[in-house]
Amino acid sequence: MGAMQPDSDTTLWPDSGTELSRQDLGRLIYASICQVDGPVLGEMRRIRDHAVLNNQSHNLRVALMHRCGWFVEWIEGPPEGIRALMERVALDERHRSLRVVHESVGKPRLFKPWIGSIAEATESTGEFARRVMALHERHLKGQGYEPASVWRSLCSPLPGHVEVAAAQEGSYQRVMMMSAARTDAFDLLRWLATREKRAVVHRRFAGAARDALDVESDYLDLPRQAAAGRRLIANARKGLAMGMTHAFLPDYTAAVVLLDTDSGRNEHLLDRLLTACQHVHHRPVVVGLGADSWFSDSLRSLTEARGLRWVEARTGDRAHDMATMWWALKRVLDLL
Ligand SMILES: Cc1cc2nc3c(=O)[nH]c(=O)nc-3n(C[C@H](O)[C@H](O)[C@H](O)COP(=O)(O)O)c2cc1C
Repeated sequence: MGAMQPDSDTTLWPDSGTELSRQDLGRLIYASICQVDGPVLGEMRRIRDHAVLNNQSHNLRVALMHRCGWFVEWIEGPPEGIRALMERVALDERHRSLRVVHESVGKPRLFKPWIGSIAEATESTGEFARRVMALHERHLKGQGYEPASVWRSLCSPLPGHVEVAAAQEGSYQRVMMMSAARTDAFDLLRWLATREKRAVVHRRFAGAARDALDVESDYLDLPRQAAAGRRLIANARKGLAMGMTHAFLPDYTAAVVLLDTDSGRNEHLLDRLLTACQHVHHRPVVVGLGADSWFSDSLRSLTEARGLRWVEARTGDRAHDMATMWWALKRVLDLL
């Protein structure tokens, strides 16, 4: 590998690095109206300090998000542990009007005892509340969606009416993009949004752990692409250390690495991506994107050694413009 500064990107949670259990567990998601006066981040850190210890001793894993004046909490673990936590949480005056939007037994997605984040959002509290109520009613009728779909329907919904959007959730092609250097993935998304006359959704996650840095993740919906719509998600490299990224990794059809001239950087990012996929037992197609000379046999062999498929989206023999990059990538994605 070439000389490089490693990203300051590791989040050392008590059990980070363990693999996701494949056993079925209880899963519950609720939404509640936040009653915290003052900075929510500080309060979430206080919640975290309790939660990390409590949740671990009850084998619970939890993701808590604050958005639009609401909390959304996703809990996985033994059903009796979930029940006990819900009883305690229901009495907490830092929120009110708890609405369960999902409850089931199935495959887990969370593999850290506590993941906390705050997402900046531009929509109104009322719009958010409408989605909570629609999902709550569906849940009561026994017509709920999978936990990851429910979470996304609340926190990063597809365009359109909540019911229609939630129903389409499962068939969208999701593609994660990360750049080995600079912010190329974000730049490509922005360029494409302008070209397609669609808006990029910007998300900034404030990690509630003291050691978790702020992480950006933008996405762009292209409902007329792929068989049933396509969402491109640009993630920061340090996002690979985030529990939320791991939770949604299993839904990505493809993970694109925007390559760089520095082969060390390319291999470093690819290795981290492959490790994250291994943790969550997911095998997306891994797409390398860049100029011919940036590809090397080692990228393919690294990927194939972990049992994943490596596909090359080449842009030719020189540094390239956004349009060339996009067409090289689109050609590959359309075939998946
Ligand atoms: C939105 C929200 C989410 C919470 N999540 C958790 C959690 O995952 N685990 C936990 O132990 N406490 C959580 N709490 C805190 C509990 O309501 C309660 O204050 C805490 O468990 C009491 O812990 P103690 O018995 O150790 O004092 C949460 C509180 C709020 C407002």
